[in-house]
Amino acid sequence: MKFQGLVRIISKKEINDEVFTLCVERPKAIESIKAGQFFNIKTSAYGSPMLRRPISVSGYDKDSIEFTIKVIGDGTKQLHQYEVDEKIDIMGPLGNGFEYSNEQEILVIGGGIGIAPVKGLLEVLKRENPNIKVTTILGFKDEPYLEETFNALSDTLKIVSETDSRYEKGFVTEPLKSIIWKPFQMTYACGPTPMLKAITPVLNAAKMPVQLLMEEKMACGIGACLVCTCKIKEGDFGYKHQRMCKDGPMFYGSEVIF
Ligand code: FES
Repeated sequence: MKFQGLVRIISKKEINDEVFTLCVERPKAIESIKAGQFFNIKTSAYGSPMLRRPISVSGYDKDSIEFTIKVIGDGTKQLHQYEVDEKIDIMGPLGNGFEYSNEQEILVIGGGIGIAPVKGLLEVLKRENPNIKVTTILGFKDEPYLEETFNALSDTLKIVSETDSRYEKGFVTEPLKSIIWKPFQMTYACGPTPMLKAITPVLNAAKMPVQLLMEEKMACGIGACLVCTCKIKEGDFGYKHQRMCKDGPMFYGSEVIF
């Protein structure tokens, strides 16, 4: 059920200069959440009630919901000003998140702040099935973050960076090509559109199912502004426009036309 109202901030943590987490109390009215869903969060207690930003869930349990946020504009800058014990107005959960059942071996690919929802996914999957085998590939433009967290959640973790020389240089497609032969039952991916566009044909060619969380271009988060449309296959040769925020953000790699 969709909730809208004020919730208390339980904790706030700076991950690096740009990225931070807010953990809020989970209202009883929110019966279920799925990894990959998002909330529209009011960016300021004093600004216009229209000022909300779609923020993915990066973790949850029965008492709390966590958001990992990158400061990239005025809205997220305002979100960063909230402090512990203040109340924040959230609306959600929204969108269709990742679909998961009983996979035994999975591949997870995250790029940039797109690692946030896949972290939430891995925490849920590990809770439900501690024996699940997880291979994770993370790609960053600059210095990687949450490495320890992903190390604890993954059996194999590969990290690439475009600029940080302590890590393998390059894009996630390189390590992906070297492990594509493994018998993964499902791949879950979230990151910038160019990353999703690069990995999808590789996975499709290997006949490996992939769920893409497409959220990079979201703005209003409620299906109104249409900036987030993408092309989804329809029939043998056609396609239809879908809104990532309303009809997604999860789409299967086999149905997206980049
Ligand atoms: Fe505005 Fe999807 S973000 S329609």
